[in-house]
Amino acid sequence: MVLSMDRWAGKVAVVTGASSGIGAAIAERLVEYGLKVAALARRLDRLESLAKKLSGKKGKLFPIKTDMTKEEDILNAFKYVKGHLSPIHILINNAGIMPTNSFISDGDTKLWENIFKLNVIGLSIATREAVKDMMANNVQGHIIHINSVVGHQVLDFPGLSVYPASKYAVTALAETLRIELNSLKLKIKITSISPGAVDTELQSEEFKETPYFKDLLKENKILKIEDIADAAIYVLSTPPHVLVNIFNYK
Ligand SMILES: NC(=O)c1ccc[n+]([C@@H]2O[C@H](COP(=O)([O-])OP(=O)(O)OC[C@H]3O[C@@H](n4cnc5c(N)ncnc54)[C@H](OP(=O)(O)O)[C@@H]3O)[C@@H](O)[C@H]2O)c1
Repeated sequence: MVLSMDRWAGKVAVVTGASSGIGAAIAERLVEYGLKVAALARRLDRLESLAKKLSGKKGKLFPIKTDMTKEEDILNAFKYVKGHLSPIHILINNAGIMPTNSFISDGDTKLWENIFKLNVIGLSIATREAVKDMMANNVQGHIIHINSVVGHQVLDFPGLSVYPASKYAVTALAETLRIELNSLKLKIKITSISPGAVDTELQSEEFKETPYFKDLLKENKILKIEDIADAAIYVLSTPPHVLVNIFNYK
């Protein structure tokens, strides 16, 4: 099997939540491989610093301030990408939030709405806009959802409230999209990557003090952002007839 990122050089990728953690790591790698990366997130200063850090690399990072919980913002971001960079070849649906001390028994409705707006609806809007652009340009693209192990199995760790439900939705959305793309005979790939715990800003300092996190750390079970970026690059490197899903079945 020939693994190569060559066919993506000079092409356009959209990475949501590219201002930190996994999204920033994937965006960085894609720029190194020569892609034009539209980097979406709310913290424009972080995106601009990343763009600066990557200047002189083979590709280029284009910071686009976007709140992925707001449809208008997402549509404006895609309008910019379609107008200035198009066609889109890769979409990395990465933006996500996770509470670590929130409970269904007394939780906050606004927080639940926000989790679903970002992790599920924002991801779906971005997917729709990217697929429309790929279809219009006859692009054999690739969409990657950054899911989670809790999108397949709810862990015995109280405090995540509706987060696992939002990631179960991501699992279903990936499979539903796969069926749709097949039925439309489109050669667009969809991959769902489901990491376990990764050391990022997603976990609060409070969470990092829990015995659960400390045990994982002690047992060397905490992933690094580079591990997830490697997984994304691996699936993108596969030839068009190969489709990889990184699932964590129990
Ligand atoms: N870390 C883990 O243990 C772990 C495990 C499994 C799966 N994941 C998944 O990995 C993905 C990335 O998380 P991470 O661990 O890399 O955490 P992170 O460092 O906190 O990154 C989250 C990213 O999402 C963006 N984001 C948050 N709210 C947003 C909004 N309203 N609009 C646009 N962007 C928004 C953030 O950017 P701004 O704040 O600048 O907007 C940031 O770039 C998430 O989907 C998460 O569920 C993480």
